[in-house]
Amino acid sequence: MENKTYHITTFGCQMNEHDSEIIAGFLENMGYQPAELENAGIEVINTCSVRENADKHFFGTLGQLKHRKEDDPDFLVAVCGCMMQQKRIVDEINSKYPWVDIIFGTNNLYRFPHLLNDAVSKHDREREVWDEADGVKEGLPSLRKFKHKAFVNITYGCNNFCTYCIVPYTRGRERSRKPEDIIAECERLARDGVEEVTLLGQNVNSYAGGMDFAGLLREVEKVDGIERIRFMTSNPKDLSDRLIEAIADSDKICNNIHLPFQAGSDDVIRRMNRHYTHASYLDLVGRIRAAVPDITMSTDIIVGFPGETEEDFQRTLDMVEEVRYDSAFTFLYSVRPGTPAADFEDQIPEDVKHDRFDRLVEAVNRISAEKNKLYEGRIERILVDGASKREPSAQSGRTDGFKLVNFKSDCDLTGRFVDVRITKGKTFSLEGELV
Ligand code: SAH
Ligand code: SF4
Ligand code: F3S
Repeated sequence: MENKTYHITTFGCQMNEHDSEIIAGFLENMGYQPAELENAGIEVINTCSVRENADKHFFGTLGQLKHRKEDDPDFLVAVCGCMMQQKRIVDEINSKYPWVDIIFGTNNLYRFPHLLNDAVSKHDREREVWDEADGVKEGLPSLRKFKHKAFVNITYGCNNFCTYCIVPYTRGRERSRKPEDIIAECERLARDGVEEVTLLGQNVNSYAGGMDFAGLLREVEKVDGIERIRFMTSNPKDLSDRLIEAIADSDKICNNIHLPFQAGSDDVIRRMNRHYTHASYLDLVGRIRAAVPDITMSTDIIVGFPGETEEDFQRTLDMVEEVRYDSAFTFLYSVRPGTPAADFEDQIPEDVKHDRFDRLVEAVNRISAEKNKLYEGRIERILVDGASKREPSAQSGRTDGFKLVNFKSDCDLTGRFVDVRITKGKTFSLEGELV
C-alpha cells in the first residue's frame, strides 16, 4: 500500500518556515499525513543558501537519505527552496544525487502538487525551476505550526542587492501583495483562532501595494481578533516616520523592532550597498525610542566583511554599546558565489574573523543579560506558545517585546494571554511565575 505520509525539513528564515507551512497545506489537501522522518513516505527538504554552512548542511542531510532510497524505491525525496534557484546547485544534485525525485524552486512553489502527482503516477523524476516568478500567487493553503499565530507574506523577493547577499538571486525581484488579499488572509486567520500575525518581507518598509507599509499596518490593525501584530525585516534605509507613528499609536503593533545594521563603519556599510551611515542609523534609533520609549530592539550583524579593518570592527562594537540591543544575530561573513562581495579583494582570514566574532558575541550577550535583568519584578503579559522545549513542566511564551519567558504551570495554556511576574532575567530568556 502507498505510504501517504510526509516529513519536511526546513532550513533558513521565516519565509522558508512559512513556505514549508504552505507545502504541508498542499500535502494535507492531497491526503498525506505528517510522520517522523524514519517512517515518512515523502521527505521534503526546504533549503537556504544565505551562508555557506547552510549549503553544506543540506548536502549532508541529502547524503544521509541515499541508503533509505536504495532500500525503498517508493520513498520520495523532494528538494526545494532558495538553493534550487542556483543553477550550480541543481547541476550538482543532478550529477551527484540523481536519485532525488523532485526539484522545484521558490518561484514555482505553487506547482508542487502537480510535480508530486507526476512523480507518483509516472514514476519519473520531476525537475522544474523558474528564473522569475510570474507575479504573486494567491489562495495557497497553509498548515500552521501554531494555532494561535501565523506568518503572513506581504512582499516577496528583494531589490536591494546588498553586496554580500544571495537573497535577491534566490527570491527574485520584489513584488507586493495587494492590501485586500493581505487583509482577507488576516481575517480568515482571525476566524481560525489566530491572535498574532507576523507580516513578512525582506524589507517590509518598501511595501508598495497601493499604500505604504504604515498604511497597511493600520488596516491590519482593524481586523477583529488579531491582538498582536509583528513584522520583519525593517531595512533602516526605508524606515519612515509614518511607521514610527503607527507603532506609537497602536496597542496591537508590538513594541519591538528588528533593525539589522550589519556593520558599524561607514566605509563597510557603503561597500555593503546598504545606504545609511552609522550616524543616520543612530539618529533613527533615537527617533524610534523617543516615540516608543519601551520598544525592544534586535539586529543582525556581519563580522569579517571583505576589507574590514580592526578600526572598522571597533565601529561595529561601538554601535552595539551605543544602541544596547535586547538581542542580536551575529554572523561570520560567508562568501556567496555570484554576489559582488565574493569578488572583493581583502577577504578576511578565518582566525581574524573568529576573534572579532567572539569579542562581538561577548558584548552582545553581556548587554542582553543586563537588559533582561531589568525585567526582574515586572509583570509582563505573555502570549503562551506551549510547553517549554527544555522543560515539559514549564510553559513558554513571548512578551509584547518578543522576550522569551518560561514559567511553571501544570496546565496547558497554549494560545492564552497570561500575566507573569518576572523572577529572573537571563541572557537569552526570562523566568517568571503566573500571577
Ligand atoms: N532582508 C533582511 C535580511 C535577510 S538575510 C535584511 O536586509 O535585514 C538575514 C541575515 O543574514 C542578514 O541580515 C545578514 O546579517 C545575514 N547574511 C546575509 N548574507 C550573509 C553572508 N553572505 N554572510 C554572512 N551573513 C549573511
Ligand atoms: Fe539581502 Fe539586503 Fe535584500 Fe536583506 S535587503 S535580503 S540583506 S539584499
Ligand atoms: Fe531565507 Fe535563506 Fe532564502 S535566509 S530567503 S531561506 S536564502
